[in-house]
Amino acid sequence: MMLPTAKLPQLGLVVIGWIGGLFTCLLFLQYNSPKCAPEYVPPFQPEIYKSVNFSKHISTTSGETGEEKPILLLWFWPENYRWNFQDCKTIYNIDGCHLTDRRNLYNQADAVLIFHKAINHDLSNLPPSPRPPFQKWIWLHVESPTNTPRIPGLENLFNLTLSYRRDADISVRYPLTVSKKPNEDFVIPKKDKLLCWFVSNLAPSTGIGTRMSYYNELKKYITVRIFGSMSGARMKDEEYFPTMSSCKFYLSFENSVHKDYITEKLNGPLAAGTVPVVLGPPRQNYEDFAPGNSFIHVDDFPNAEALANYLLKLDKDDEAYKRYFDWRKHVRATPHLTLWNQEFISYICHACEYIGKHREYKAAHDIYKWWFS
Ligand SMILES: *[C@@H]1O[C@H](CO)[C@@H](O)[C@H](O)[C@H]1NC(C)=O
Ligand SMILES: *[C@@H]1O[C@H](CO)[C@@H](O)[C@H](O)[C@H]1NC(C)=O
Repeated sequence: MMLPTAKLPQLGLVVIGWIGGLFTCLLFLQYNSPKCAPEYVPPFQPEIYKSVNFSKHISTTSGETGEEKPILLLWFWPENYRWNFQDCKTIYNIDGCHLTDRRNLYNQADAVLIFHKAINHDLSNLPPSPRPPFQKWIWLHVESPTNTPRIPGLENLFNLTLSYRRDADISVRYPLTVSKKPNEDFVIPKKDKLLCWFVSNLAPSTGIGTRMSYYNELKKYITVRIFGSMSGARMKDEEYFPTMSSCKFYLSFENSVHKDYITEKLNGPLAAGTVPVVLGPPRQNYEDFAPGNSFIHVDDFPNAEALANYLLKLDKDDEAYKRYFDWRKHVRATPHLTLWNQEFISYICHACEYIGKHREYKAAHDIYKWWFS
């Protein structure tokens, strides 16, 4: 059968258009343009992101090598604390990824960082599905298991875990650093207070029962200087280190007791030149991160009264007190960020560093089984 002659011009146009398109494509392919590569048509693009101009981003290159940096998309700002992404470079010298909060880059993001506490219980505010097959989701959580809402349906969504736990894929802590050359410059800061505690969180639901009952017992035998909202006055961020260093001892009491959950509450006094009195996981776990003679553990004493007596004795014995600083000869603590909006910077920057270096396939199955074990 012949085609009706009236349709012939149209057919001709289609064929010419098709050949023309193919030719343009071949020409582009020769110059390695991503425009004709199959992935140019974004196959996973959900309706709401249709307006993205892909050509704008595909050509994004960086560094002197011209190699493209992976994109790390911050899906939520944790606690809505905002800061400048440049801080990763200026504070930690981390520049390994393109960090962004622009959700319209979702389809190109190599990794998406998702803050656990911001996820709705029905998962309705997670990034759209299906996700691009090359994309990794990172679970960001900084609280202990006691303070982890169990949101159903999250167990098998993530590729990487990011927390303080040493066995997280990305473990972010406050490491002490060792130096071969002895530090000769350390002097114990001037002290005008015996025992201090900075405390704001008084919510019983956060598991603080253990530390509150210990404190209530301890204060019967020794004076504890309280700072922070428990004392009725919020402490200014910039007063944190100066106040800390003016205390001989500091109560580094974690809100709940869990493996590796040793937070800035330990790093603060170590960096300030104060002796921490710790309550948290067993001494052995602390000694994974800090020299055994850098802190006093509440478990070293049968009860709070014995601890109080020991601190009072050290207050009178300068030589014995000084021995808590011996470790500083070759080990150093680094002050952490203390401004209210800086709480998550280190976590987010280290995620950036990680995805800048790691390309391997990874799935994190059953995160709750791991987390709550
Ligand atoms: C998309 O971005 C490119 C590069 O910035 C620009 O040249 C082009 O005009 C943009 N296209 C549209 C439709 O906005
Ligand atoms: C990420 O994890 C999900 C869920 O386990 C998995 O389906 C996906 O293939 C993983 N993707 C990458 C790029 O590792």
